[in-house]
Amino acid sequence: MVASPIPTIFFGYAELRAAAAELINQRFSDTLLQKKSFVLGCATGSTPEGVYTDLVKILQTQPLDETRLSTVNLDEYYPIQRTNPHSYHNWMLRTLWKPLATIDARFDYHDQAIIPMGEAPDPQREAKRYEQKIRAWGGVDLQILGIGENGHIAFNEPGSAKDSRTRLVTLTDSTRQANAKFFGGDVSAVPKQAITMGIATILEAKEILVMVSGKQKADIMKKIFSSQEPTPDIPATFLMTHPRVQWYLDAAAASRLP
Ligand code: PGA
Repeated sequence: MVASPIPTIFFGYAELRAAAAELINQRFSDTLLQKKSFVLGCATGSTPEGVYTDLVKILQTQPLDETRLSTVNLDEYYPIQRTNPHSYHNWMLRTLWKPLATIDARFDYHDQAIIPMGEAPDPQREAKRYEQKIRAWGGVDLQILGIGENGHIAFNEPGSAKDSRTRLVTLTDSTRQANAKFFGGDVSAVPKQAITMGIATILEAKEILVMVSGKQKADIMKKIFSSQEPTPDIPATFLMTHPRVQWYLDAAAASRLP
């Protein structure tokens, strides 16, 4: 049996995103004080979007040494061209990488930011290359993470094993439905597959910040926090086995916690 963590509960998303951005800034600053580089694990989607906006605002007023920042993304649709406006590559460019380069022109996202290549001809090979690259960078210092309504983390859908690594996966219908909002509501436009970091890869991050917002997540949060044991049926329960995880929830997401 694993002990349930104690979540930090915020009034709403505005407070949650501000606190998450502050935590990232704090960890980045602390790492610089130790004269090291900082690897931020990035998620995409509705929840992290405001966090990056707030982080960029903080860094605008007190720029750090962005040459010492690298970002590693969790996942990318497959197949998808990076120039497709719906690719996570494109989303990251708009939301974080270009704003960071505006703050510090030395931040070169061609070298300092990685995301699985949705246009790679051989996805298995790409997955292996990605895993090796993360390792070569010394792993992720702080991984930020959302939770799917079905309990997925990254695109590790229910049934994913704890020892899974970066790989090509098939998205569930519920994930494609949930993400249709990013494709003008057209579920048929949502790719059927993705390359995702595996659960074992995610759990190797030195620290994890899980962010959950909205009443549509209340049921899955209840299930996660009621679970006695980690289970592949709810991949997010594997986070309970990590020694350094913080859960940031807003009141709506926390409304059904046991
Ligand atoms: P969301 O997605 O932040 O867009 O709600 C989280 C997820 O599905 O992992």
